[in-house]
Amino acid sequence: MNQHLQNIADLINQSSQLNEEDKTSIISGLKKADKDLLISEFKLERTEKVKRTTAILLEETIEELEQKRKAIEDSNDALQKSLQELKAAQKQLIQSEKMASLGELTAGIAHEIQNPLNFVNNFSEVSKELLEEMLEELQNGDMEEVQAIAQDVIQNLEKIAHHGKRADGIVKGMLQHSRSSSGAKENTNINILVDEYLRLAYHGLRAKDKSFNAALDTHFDDSIKTINIVPQDIGRVVLNLITNAFYACNEKKKLHINGYEPIVSVKTKKQKDNISISVKDNGNGIPQKVLDKIFQPFFTTKPTGQGTGLGLSLSYDIIKAHGGTIDVTTKENEGTEFIISLPTNNKE
Ligand SMILES: Nc1ncnc2c1ncn2[C@@H]1O[C@H](COP(=O)(O)OP(=O)(O)OP(=O)(O)O)[C@@H](O)[C@H]1O
Ligand SMILES: [Mg+2]
Repeated sequence: MNQHLQNIADLINQSSQLNEEDKTSIISGLKKADKDLLISEFKLERTEKVKRTTAILLEETIEELEQKRKAIEDSNDALQKSLQELKAAQKQLIQSEKMASLGELTAGIAHEIQNPLNFVNNFSEVSKELLEEMLEELQNGDMEEVQAIAQDVIQNLEKIAHHGKRADGIVKGMLQHSRSSSGAKENTNINILVDEYLRLAYHGLRAKDKSFNAALDTHFDDSIKTINIVPQDIGRVVLNLITNAFYACNEKKKLHINGYEPIVSVKTKKQKDNISISVKDNGNGIPQKVLDKIFQPFFTTKPTGQGTGLGLSLSYDIIKAHGGTIDVTTKENEGTEFIISLPTNNKE
């Protein structure tokens, strides 16, 4: 029994003022109180235990939550980092796509530059010979002949200057292509632009694969005057469409189908409020399964290392930025036609 209760019980037992019956009743009350006290103590102890366990659990939970918060923070940081990395990689891919199309252009450009360069070399050689002749005539005192030769040299130098400027223009065009677009719109003769890129694409492919050949069929609508576009951007679109068309023809050619003659036709046409540029090939066409994805970035059916799959997705973005549309019609085994439509009142 509890010591205090025991003391009371002892006092009651020793009391002479209480009779036995009262004593027994009080002692029994005390015993009951002792029992209740014991139960309460036990309950209290149990509650204490629960409290302690809960506190420990709570502490553990807090610790766990803190760990989770840190883990989330860490993965957030990692996500941020990989997002940055992805953005950088995307930028680099776009740049390398540009460089790849520059590679395609280089061979064509080399071919284009070779012509004016030949002129410059030949005319400067001839002019040197003419001047040597002139020196002789000066010694002979034949002033008439000297004058005639001088006239010839002047004409030659004009030609050298003319072809030098041509080469300069080609190199400038090349630099413009490799530079990131300034985004500035210029009044551009679309027929000249398309023709230029068509020739560059064709010679570029021929330089890479001498066996490649395709008939070129061009219809330029002369009623189109200039239109307000970012020339390098539209040039890249045209280059990609033409390269894709040649590639499709070349793939079909490899199948050695009897009587197959690859043809790529390029047309420009003036309509009411817009002009259209069509690039059509008689390659293998695009199966529906592929057609659904051709404008997706990085989608390509070319072997690894041969295409980035950015050509059409970038083309789509460029045409959209010009307020135009790009449509495709294709028939399996027969060929494909891409039609770009650009508004003529593109003033902004
Ligand atoms: N004229 C076409 N005929 C058949 N398939 C085509 C034609 N044009 C595009 N495609 C299909 O669309 C895909 C995507 O074309 P896109 O120009 O975007 O990339 P790519 O030509 O594969 O690579 P890149 O242009 O970067 O060199 C091609 O891989 C090809 O499967
Ligand atoms: Mg392409």
